Amino acid sequence: MIAHRISVLAAVVAAFVTGFIVTPASAAEIESAIARGGKLYDNWYKELKMERPDSAHPSYPASGKYPKQSWRCKECHGWDYKGKDGMLAKGDHNVGIKGITGAAGKDPAAIGAILKDKTHGYDKLGEKDIADLALFVSKGQSDMGKFIDLAAAKPKGNAAKGEVYYNTLCAGCHGVDGKKVSTGAAVGALKDDPWQLLHKAFNGQPAEAMPALRSLDPAIAADIVAYSQTLPQ
Ligand code: HEC
Ligand code: HEC
Repeated sequence: MIAHRISVLAAVVAAFVTGFIVTPASAAEIESAIARGGKLYDNWYKELKMERPDSAHPSYPASGKYPKQSWRCKECHGWDYKGKDGMLAKGDHNVGIKGITGAAGKDPAAIGAILKDKTHGYDKLGEKDIADLALFVSKGQSDMGKFIDLAAAKPKGNAAKGEVYYNTLCAGCHGVDGKKVSTGAAVGALKDDPWQLLHKAFNGQPAEAMPALRSLDPAIAADIVAYSQTLPQ
């Protein structure tokens, strides 16, 4: 009986770990794997404590102004995942590449294969990294248009509510003015980039113990983003 149970368990475990994607087992594990995928989307070499690749990404156009950033997913596909049709359209980061919103809901294994194809070449990433990125692309993309007005670049959240959330969730590390940082910019410095702030609020900061709010009501992160626009730069 016990032996039977063990063999059933072994079969279940084997089913999870074989195949291209290592499938997380529970809803809680899936949510944290998605958040980790979001941090890798932001900056995988920072999250993995690896060196930034020396040369520009092979799919990054020669005309692009930020070759040093070109291995980060966000540099080609944007903080709102909409590529050339979203927040990238206006500024000088636009390299005319489409977004990844069309891949939302797709099979993570197929997305993982895209990340290893010639266009992307993420061979340095491990299987778990590819799996988490693919899970983020498939199940983790937030519809930022709900929370940020694209044309006006303004958050739609409630800044007064956001102040309460910010002071209790964020100020312990960032200070009530958002300026208490160790290495990065002040929270208020992202005033013109509410999409980046929202992505980081949902998924956390690469390689830092910053919380990922993605399992909470998304309005909380949106309200925090609205409030953060009022912080000094
Ligand atoms: C240097 C630019 C560049 C970077 C960086 C980049 N991509 Fe892409 N990505 C592309 C191009 C080009 C395409 C193909 C677009 C097309 O088919 O016209 C693409 C397509 C995709 C697609 C398919 C979209 C669809 O609608 O089918 C996904 C998913 C994707 N990328 C995910 C990622 C992820 C995740 C990362 C980071 C690990 C990443 N990309 C980094 C350039 C880039
Ligand atoms: C446990 C500490 C901690 C908490 C709590 C925390 N953060 Fe962070 N956050 C960090 C660290 C560390 C960094 C990396 C930059 C630095 O050194 O300050 C960072 C970076 C950021 C950045 C990027 C700044 C840049 O350099 O461009 C933003 C935006 C941000 N946090 C927003 C928030 C928001 C919003 C909250 C509340 C929901 C929050 N953080 C809560 C530790 C924290």
